[in-house]
Amino acid sequence: MLILAPSVLSADFARLAEHIQTVESAGADWLHLDVMDGLFVPNLSFGQPVVRAIRAVTTLPLDVHLMIQDPGRYLDSFAQAGADILTIHLEACVHLHRNLQQIKALGLQAGVALNPHTPVESLWPVLPDLDLVCLMSVNPGFGGQAFIPATMNKLAALDRYRKEHGFTFRIEIDGGVDLINAASLMQAGADVLVAGNSVFGQADAAQAVRAFKAIR
Ligand code: DX5
Ligand code: ZN
Repeated sequence: MLILAPSVLSADFARLAEHIQTVESAGADWLHLDVMDGLFVPNLSFGQPVVRAIRAVTTLPLDVHLMIQDPGRYLDSFAQAGADILTIHLEACVHLHRNLQQIKALGLQAGVALNPHTPVESLWPVLPDLDLVCLMSVNPGFGGQAFIPATMNKLAALDRYRKEHGFTFRIEIDGGVDLINAASLMQAGADVLVAGNSVFGQADAAQAVRAFKAIR
């Protein structure tokens, strides 16, 4: 069963509560929150105050994607703000294993995100510690970009390795996901699809959520 995680990056920030209510009522499973520091990625988005405000208006799990250099500095504060899942970038961590242990010690689910150029094999040593692997299918920093096709090979390799070793972490695809590529991503092993432009960028976001959830 697909876990659909609409990304509020593409929502109207002045009407966030209303937009979140719309996708929650329509059947969205998680909310994906993109935190950008202007250093690890060439853009700024929002931080803990907005996560806390969103926590107050929804019961959906908050899937917080930290595009932050050296995220160990902020894990505690995002836990306090109400995150359920904290995903950090392998490329942003000098001590990835330590940072993952910090997330687990906070009682949250731990995820690692990989940029398009990072091989999935670089995750093998930390897979036993993970609840989620997020494969970036665009270069992080902006919504509404085109899906990078090479993601499919990475997804297949990761899913194969997961089956061979009996791991239970979820695989999330983030960037350029739409109603056209969603089915093939799910067939290739994706459990969670992040959708920004293809949900909040649509005239009828509720209908977009229902269309994703109807994909088999
Ligand atoms: C990109 C973010 C994505 C973004 C996806 O850096 O990590 O979560 O919101 O947006 P779409 O679905 O529009 O590509
Ligand atoms: Zn994201």
